[in-house]
Amino acid sequence: MNTLDQHPSADGLWTDLQLAPGAAPDVALPEGARAAIAVEQGRIAWVGASRAVPARFTDAPRHQGGGALVTPGLVDCHTHLVYGGQRANEFAMRLAGASYEEIAKAGGGIVSSVRATREADEDQLFAQAAPRLEQLLADGVCAIEIKSGYGLSLEHERKQLRVARRLGQAYGVTVRTTFLGAHALPPEYAGRSSDYIDAVCSEMMPTLAAEGLVDAVDVFCERIAFSLEETERVFKAARALSLPVKLHAEQLSDMGGAALAARYGALSCDHIEHLSPEGIAAMREAGTVAVLLPGAYYTLRDTHLPPIEALRAGGVPMAVSTDHNPGTSPALSLLLMVNMACTLFRLTVPEALAGVTVNAARALGLSDTHGVLGVGRSADFVLWDVREAAELAYWFGRRPARIVVRQGRVSFPSPPGSGQVEGMQR
Ligand code: NIG
Ligand code: FE
Repeated sequence: MNTLDQHPSADGLWTDLQLAPGAAPDVALPEGARAAIAVEQGRIAWVGASRAVPARFTDAPRHQGGGALVTPGLVDCHTHLVYGGQRANEFAMRLAGASYEEIAKAGGGIVSSVRATREADEDQLFAQAAPRLEQLLADGVCAIEIKSGYGLSLEHERKQLRVARRLGQAYGVTVRTTFLGAHALPPEYAGRSSDYIDAVCSEMMPTLAAEGLVDAVDVFCERIAFSLEETERVFKAARALSLPVKLHAEQLSDMGGAALAARYGALSCDHIEHLSPEGIAAMREAGTVAVLLPGAYYTLRDTHLPPIEALRAGGVPMAVSTDHNPGTSPALSLLLMVNMACTLFRLTVPEALAGVTVNAARALGLSDTHGVLGVGRSADFVLWDVREAAELAYWFGRRPARIVVRQGRVSFPSPPGSGQVEGMQR
């Protein structure tokens, strides 16, 4: 499937736009002034006031923005998008009172997705993941992280990561792949966790990295997954290959994972409901992003809030993501996560929007190309069918992205005539 053919080039001058707060930190506009963005060969060539467009862009093809609010393309910085099957049965089990840990111990959980993922071939995994990706893209996502971790062997992890790369090419979306071989203990290694970590470090990770399939390395550090010591072994192997690390940290308990990850210069620590003050201090020191995942918190009916106020006070950058996965967060809308980050975690609207743009880009090591509008960056931005930025957090279940420019190509996710913004060229 190649959907790119349907998307025309966005090159030219986009005018009559309303810059969302924080969208273009290098641009100072007079109060209420309309903005314009010039796109050349898929990159942003200029951003500024509509009235001050440099002469060299005045004859460029025009795209009338109709006064629409514009933000950078959204970045979904933590997903497990490629897997076989689904786990609606566990939803029912949880409703009947079973906990995530009980389900995992009873042979459900991650390992049941591993079975279904191993049974599927690459084409089948692609066909299952593609409609999920399309849902996320419809919300204005322009860059996405996709983790492995449902294969748990060289062959099957490779299959997941190859599908992730294929999705990026087919949809013209920036995909960052994360190798999460240390997600769960595969059944064939039962009772031999240390041997499995050996295989992760000495066979799977180097081979997949050599094949160009790994942009970062992650571990699930938890009582029901891997210990601190095992996590460090994986981090050492990643360091030897010059791969950046991330961590599923302190989701169900305080394992001290965040402080360890920070010592390895982690891009991000994710979940972090049980993050300690020491973990926060270490993350601040290392510049590690705190990735908040309200979809998993909600699905698990967690009541232990991440330490938002302490993260805020410590100046730790916060990102927000779907954590899309079949077990704990079957979420297919990043904007819904923005709403939930505000409602459940009490982020402010600007914090939540920074959480799916600038800070999410940072969590993926994409700060130079994504997350803000600026000269030389990838032409990734969204024109929204709303009057003010707060609406992006306020509505839920709505799809207000009207025009998405992704990698310099235009797509129109919302049905024509569905909104208030008038005069946009279609
Ligand atoms: O991010 N915490 C571990 N990994 C996933 C859950 C994966 C699953 O249950 O399949 C998460 O929540
Ligand atoms: Fe996750």
